[in-house]
Amino acid sequence: MEKIVIHGGNRLTGEVEISGAKNAAVAIIPAALLAQDVCRIENLPNISDVTCMTKILESMGAKVKRINKHTIEYDTRNVNSYIVPHEMTKKLRASYYLVGALLGRFCRAKVALPGGCDFGVRPIDLHIKGFELLGANVNLESAMVNAKADRLTGSAIYMDKVSVGATINIMLASVKARGLTIIENAAKEPHIVDLANFLNAMGADVRGAGTDVIKIHGVTELHGCTYSIIPDQIEAGTYMAAAAATGGDVLIKNVIPKHLDSISAKLIECGVKITEYDDSLRVESSGKFRHCNIKTMPHPGFPTDMQPQISVLLTVAEGTSLVSEGVWDNRFKYVDQLIRMGANVQVDGTIAVFQGVKELTGAPVKANDLRAGAAMIVAGLMATGTTEIEDIQYIDRGYEDYIEKFKALGADIYRREFSDSDKANAAG
Ligand code: UD1
Repeated sequence: MEKIVIHGGNRLTGEVEISGAKNAAVAIIPAALLAQDVCRIENLPNISDVTCMTKILESMGAKVKRINKHTIEYDTRNVNSYIVPHEMTKKLRASYYLVGALLGRFCRAKVALPGGCDFGVRPIDLHIKGFELLGANVNLESAMVNAKADRLTGSAIYMDKVSVGATINIMLASVKARGLTIIENAAKEPHIVDLANFLNAMGADVRGAGTDVIKIHGVTELHGCTYSIIPDQIEAGTYMAAAAATGGDVLIKNVIPKHLDSISAKLIECGVKITEYDDSLRVESSGKFRHCNIKTMPHPGFPTDMQPQISVLLTVAEGTSLVSEGVWDNRFKYVDQLIRMGANVQVDGTIAVFQGVKELTGAPVKANDLRAGAAMIVAGLMATGTTEIEDIQYIDRGYEDYIEKFKALGADIYRREFSDSDKANAAG
C-alpha cells in the first residue's frame, strides 16, 4: 500500500500537458466492440480505468496491441462472449457501458453490476428503461444485468433525468438497431460528443450530440477506424484549481478552453486571472480568494466532478461561500478530511457552507473517491506543513502521471510505501 506525501506551500509554476479524457475513453473502448473490426484509439490516458476496461475486452476475446503509451489497437473480430463477471467489473463504474455495447453487437448482454466511486445511490433505471424501449428484455439476477432481444428497434426515449451514463448506453445499444432512435433530454457532456464522433467514424449515423436531442439512424454494419480522444476536462480543471490554490502561474496545455468555461468563470469570480489561447489556458493567482457560490449541474453547468477540487479554494476565501451539489446525493464526504486540515465547513444534505479560514495545515487524510482524492492533493499543496494521503488507488484510476506532473510544476510531492508502524497505527 502506498501513500502520497506532500510538503505544502510551494507555488506551482510552468507548463502541464493534459491527457486524454477518462470518461470518453471508458465509453469509446467498449464501443469498439460494435465494429467487429480493428479500431486504433489514440490519446488514451495511461490510467488504471483504461487498463481495466482494456483487460475486460481482452478477456472476452479481443486482440489488444499497445502501439505506444497513449495508443492501443483493439481487434474485436473474435469476441464471442457476452458475459462479463463481477471480478472484471467491480473496480470500474463505467463497466455498465458493456451492456449497451454487447446488446448492440450480440443482442445479448450479461454484465455484473459495476463498482467505482461511491457518492450515494447510483441507480441504472434509466439505462434499463432505454434498453427496454429498444425492445430488450432486461432483468437483474444475482447482481448481473441480463439483457436479451430478438432484434433491437429504434424508439423515442425521453430521459426523466439528465444522465451521462444512460445517454451513452442508449447510444451504444441503438447505433445498429433497426430504424430511428431519438433520445430526448440527453446529457450534453463533451465525452458524449466524443463518443458520437467515434461512432460516426466507424460508419454510424448519430446526429445532435452536444444538444439535448440526439437522433440515431441505425446502420447494419460498422467498420474499424483510427480515432483520437479529446483532452480531459476534469484533469485540466484539477490543475487549474491547484495552480490557483498555490498562488501559482501555470500554462495548462492541450485543452479545449470551451469545455472549461464554467470552471474558468468560477475561478475568475474568486479573483484568479485566466487567459485563454487556442488550445491552452494560463492560470495566474495571487493566492487570495474572494468568496463565491457554486451549484453543480449537468453540462454546460459547473461539473460535479470538479466540486471537491474547487471547494478547497473556498476553505481560505474571504467570507462565506455556498456550494450546492445538484447531481449526487452524497458528495461531501471529503469535507471531513478538509476539516482535519483546519477548514470551517458545515454540510446540510446537498449544501455545504464554507467559512474562509486563514490557512489549511497539513494532516493525515484519505481519498474517499477519485475526485475527493484530487481535492486532497490540491489541499495538501496549498496547506502549510505535511499532508499524507491514503487510499490513493482512487486517484490512480483517473489521473495520468500526476506525481510527475505536479513535481514538474514545483510541488514537493511523492509516493511512499506504508511502513510497518503506519500499518500498526492504521489497524489500531
Ligand atoms: C458520469 C461520470 C461521473 C460524473 C457523472 C455526472 C463517467 C464514467 N462517470 O457518471 O464521473 O460524476 O457522470 O456528471 O462518465 N441517475 C438515475 N438513474 C439512472 C442513472 C442516473 O436516477 O439510471 C441519476 C444519478 O443518481 C445521478 C444523476 O442521475 O443523480 C446523474 O447521473 P449520471 O449522469 O448517470 O452519472 P454517471 O453516468 O454514473
